[in-house]
Amino acid sequence: MKFSSFGNNFSNKAGIVQLMDDLGDALSVNKSMLMLGGGNPGQIPEMQARFRQRMVDILDAGDQFERLIGDYDPPQGETRFREALAALLRREFDWPLSADNIAITNGSQSASFMLFNMLAGRDDAGAPRRILLPLTPEYIGYADQGVMTDMFTANRPTIEHLADHLFKYHVDFDKLTVGDDISAICVSRPTNPTGNVLTDDEVAKLMGLARRHDVPLILDNAYGTPFPHIIFSDATPVWDDNVILCMSLSKLGLPGVRTGIVIANEQIIRGLASVNAIVNLTTGGFGAALTVDMIESGEIISISNDIIRPFYQDKADQAVDLIRRQFAGYEFAIHKPEGAIFLWLWFPGLPISCAQLYQRLKDRGVLVIPGHYFFPGLSEDWEHKHECIRLTYSQPADVVERGIAIIADVVKGAYDGG
Ligand SMILES: Cc1ncc(COP(=O)(O)O)c(C=O)c1O
Repeated sequence: MKFSSFGNNFSNKAGIVQLMDDLGDALSVNKSMLMLGGGNPGQIPEMQARFRQRMVDILDAGDQFERLIGDYDPPQGETRFREALAALLRREFDWPLSADNIAITNGSQSASFMLFNMLAGRDDAGAPRRILLPLTPEYIGYADQGVMTDMFTANRPTIEHLADHLFKYHVDFDKLTVGDDISAICVSRPTNPTGNVLTDDEVAKLMGLARRHDVPLILDNAYGTPFPHIIFSDATPVWDDNVILCMSLSKLGLPGVRTGIVIANEQIIRGLASVNAIVNLTTGGFGAALTVDMIESGEIISISNDIIRPFYQDKADQAVDLIRRQFAGYEFAIHKPEGAIFLWLWFPGLPISCAQLYQRLKDRGVLVIPGHYFFPGLSEDWEHKHECIRLTYSQPADVVERGIAIIADVVKGAYDGG
């Protein structure tokens, strides 16, 4: 049997698939593995109780459950949910939206796959068109999504050194060029893996740049405002008809229902609905059903502000304190945690690569993600790529605490020549 080039390309992906297999295998071999590697959201009992109750209400309400499991939604996603979300965003931010500006997808991951391949790849004349990532490190999940290989091109950031072992990446606008082959610019804000939140000024400049080059700006808002609002710094939410805003219900605590949301101009939404119809017929309706009430009432905003954000903010603060204590006396830096559910650690001058560090940590029962995976599209070699790791603090406090102690031990051993 022979695969097509698409089949070969997608089944031999070296990066994310291999890593995910590796993480899965490691966990099945060693159940006590400390999982600081994945992107699973934390277990928040208040959120779980709400979703459980909502499911019970659906089961008890006439034929709601039968309709939920028995009907296909339109390819653009469930209408009541899209109308409710458009109304919420109009009220909150004054964005001129209707349900026609919103599509629901089976997870934000599949939204980015459809969008990237709608916009980039070979154009009608056969010329390659690419997605520009203006700042790497950037989300590992984009890396292999191009049906055309080499679909991403990326820029190195500038690094601002801050007090107390913190640093922050910024877009290096002096080096950023939008070539003729670029068909969209894309950033995650807050950024997975670093917890960076691009400043309002950076976002405004990217919006201007995108408009001047007549390409859309994709803002991946999977952790952002107004929900789940895992943002610890000031960040103004933005949308206009040249912005494609991608959102997700996963980090509200619903990764299993696979619901992504795209907010964009009607041309993009019609195109996306058409691709979604071809690939999926439509989108599963559970995410919309479990959240539509809280979107209609606006409660989703207070829940995000009062339950979700504080949960992660506390965890981030605790993890940063632990790291400062455990690594005292050694070289280390933490990306300023401004949002998302990760810490990005940088070990300048570490004598071993982050891939070797990953292996040593796995041997000691801790899973993290080595940093070099998070530079999709950045072909130039850069020492920094091999000096960083991502860890999540969303797991229970004792797991995070034990994991960080082992990471410190292994890193110190490596600095000391072990
Ligand atoms: C930045 C970013 N975008 C998109 C996704 C995909 O989320 P979803 O679960 O909605 O597919 C993730 C998942 O972790 C993410 O971190």
